[in-house]
Amino acid sequence: MQDNSQTKKELNKRVVSPIQREEDRMFDLTLRPKSLSEFIGQKKIKENLRIFIEAARKRKESLEHVLFHGSPGIGKTTLAHIIARELGVNIKTISGPALEKPGDLCSILTNLEENNVLFIDEIHRMNRVLEEILYPAMEEYCLDIVIGQGPSARTLRLDLPKFTLVGATTRMGLLSSPLRNRFGNIFRLNFYKDEDIEKIVLRSAKLLKINIEGQAAWEIAKRARKTPRVANRLLKRVRDYSQVKADGKITLDIVRKALDLLEIDELGLDEIDRKILHTIIKKFQGRPVGIQTLSAATSEERDTIEEVYEPYLLQIGFLARTPRGRMATRSAYEHLGLRYPKKLQEELKF
Ligand SMILES: Nc1ncnc2c1ncn2[C@@H]1O[C@H](COP(=O)(O)OP(=O)(O)O)[C@@H](O)[C@H]1O
Ligand SMILES: [Mg+2]
Repeated sequence: MQDNSQTKKELNKRVVSPIQREEDRMFDLTLRPKSLSEFIGQKKIKENLRIFIEAARKRKESLEHVLFHGSPGIGKTTLAHIIARELGVNIKTISGPALEKPGDLCSILTNLEENNVLFIDEIHRMNRVLEEILYPAMEEYCLDIVIGQGPSARTLRLDLPKFTLVGATTRMGLLSSPLRNRFGNIFRLNFYKDEDIEKIVLRSAKLLKINIEGQAAWEIAKRARKTPRVANRLLKRVRDYSQVKADGKITLDIVRKALDLLEIDELGLDEIDRKILHTIIKKFQGRPVGIQTLSAATSEERDTIEEVYEPYLLQIGFLARTPRGRMATRSAYEHLGLRYPKKLQEELKF
């Protein structure tokens, strides 16, 4: 049997982790905005998309390929679906790492219909052979198929319907430049303002028919790591807590109690964020730590640290990247109630 702290850790992890169980997936789906006007925040991106979509619709053409990059849970998949819906076309979704055989990709491409959206999630994890199939498909809407082997081999060019590729990635740096260059529109989804997250919490509460006080929604928003998916998951946990411990209504007091139990602090940091910071501060006496070392010392996967934890800690100014590694900033020390060593002030200037 798992002890209490283990269970808590698991619960915690699921709040921020991009790994989705079936239940989480269904929950995400229920709360997914269906149109640009329902999509909260990211004003610039919405304005641009609106214009591109309108123009493509008027010309009755496909939209230029679009790439979204940003942290897990920030709205990439949601926007891909919104694009298809606003264009009034079908969307086919594939996941970069799940696709292995060139034949599978070719059959997906040839089965698309005119102006359809092909959504490739985690596109940075697609293998290179498949990537090369995509180049002519994206540029000239065709497939080059090699028939036969050796000297008698010849290439057959197959026309494809005009389609729009929408790619999503959490790691822009891992995308090859030939692939990146073939996207006409590249959008970076930034972390949300707390005010926008608050709107998302209120919208979700309404959809789920949850009775929530204004102050309670704001408290969840502040602790949601500026990320819509985290906000929705926190709302769900707090609702569960309230149904068990109170009458189901969500008050400020209930939010505080529920999130304290999950060990999510006022800034949304969880056990693992604190472990990362404590490791840098205590184990390495505040000296710069490389990502690999940090991963080994915390027993957290490097990818998880880089994709989930680090971006938020950088965003709130708790971590700094230096040429020699990650350092905890003065704000991080203060947040953890630790004294900031004077000698470190100099280091951070580099
Ligand atoms: N701007 C937004 N407004 C309202 N809800 C959002 C917004 N962005 C994301 N969400 C919610 O957060 C969840 C996660 O978003 P998703 O698009 O799956 O993130 P990503 O694909 O970037 O990991 C979705 O279920 C959706 O309900
Ligand atoms: Mg997604």
